[in-house]
Amino acid sequence: MEAIIRPDQDSAALLVARLIAKELRANPSLVLGLATGRTMESVYRILVRMHRNDHLDFSLCRTFNLDEYVGLPPNDPHSYRFYMNRHFFGQVNIDPRNTHLPNGLADDLDAECRDYEEKILRCGGIDLQLLGIGQAGHIGFNEPLSALRSRTRVKALSPATVEQNASFFGGPAGVPRRAITMGVGTILESRRCLLMATGPTKAEVIAKAVEGPITAMISATALQLHPRCTVVVDEPAAAKLQAADYYRWIFQNEPEWEEFRPDPPPSASHS
Ligand code: F6R
Repeated sequence: MEAIIRPDQDSAALLVARLIAKELRANPSLVLGLATGRTMESVYRILVRMHRNDHLDFSLCRTFNLDEYVGLPPNDPHSYRFYMNRHFFGQVNIDPRNTHLPNGLADDLDAECRDYEEKILRCGGIDLQLLGIGQAGHIGFNEPLSALRSRTRVKALSPATVEQNASFFGGPAGVPRRAITMGVGTILESRRCLLMATGPTKAEVIAKAVEGPITAMISATALQLHPRCTVVVDEPAAAKLQAADYYRWIFQNEPEWEEFRPDPPPSASHS
């Protein structure tokens, strides 16, 4: 695992978007694993700008989202399909047939989960998996005690997750209690993982995820097992990292990061 610390949310999101863009340019048929949530909105905004201003081409890209609520139709404004159409799919040249989310309305949810795993395999596996992290440490909806080898399945949301998402649903009572989520094992099979977290409310969980012991209580700690996982945080989210100076040194000195050190001129990524 490597941790990259950027000064603020905008530069963290810009770095994540530039890493995605680089992979997509190198492989236009990239299989991209996607996440939803507040953190990702800034990344999708920049990718949309890159599509408009720099011709970033999504026409051959295939996507698989991490999760979807059980019981919400795709046209429900709270569903993750709706979120993805609004923030990303509807604003770039991706073929809707190449975009995949679990179907939370399936009659047979277990069959839907198995089918989702098979679809990922048929596409050759996920090349780059984008991840956020919940305040209690989940990736996707892999709540406490999610097995480190778990596959796509239905998971009951923990009280902490219900609380975290309550504002979207007009209070905790409106939050669906179950979701389909890729498993921790599914996520660990992707060729590269890219986790982004920003803001002071994520500082504690980022310290646990990056530097703490691996535990099924905090599914993000499993990413320490991944051979190619990059965690991008802003300074407030990095506040509790013990080896922060070492991570800063790596970004400033290692050749891999050279092209990403200066922020590009505004025209290249902002309109
Ligand atoms: C959603 C997902 C979740 C979020 C996490 C952080 O698809 O995978 O794990 O990434 O809950 O959410 P925000 O960014 O809203 O803090």
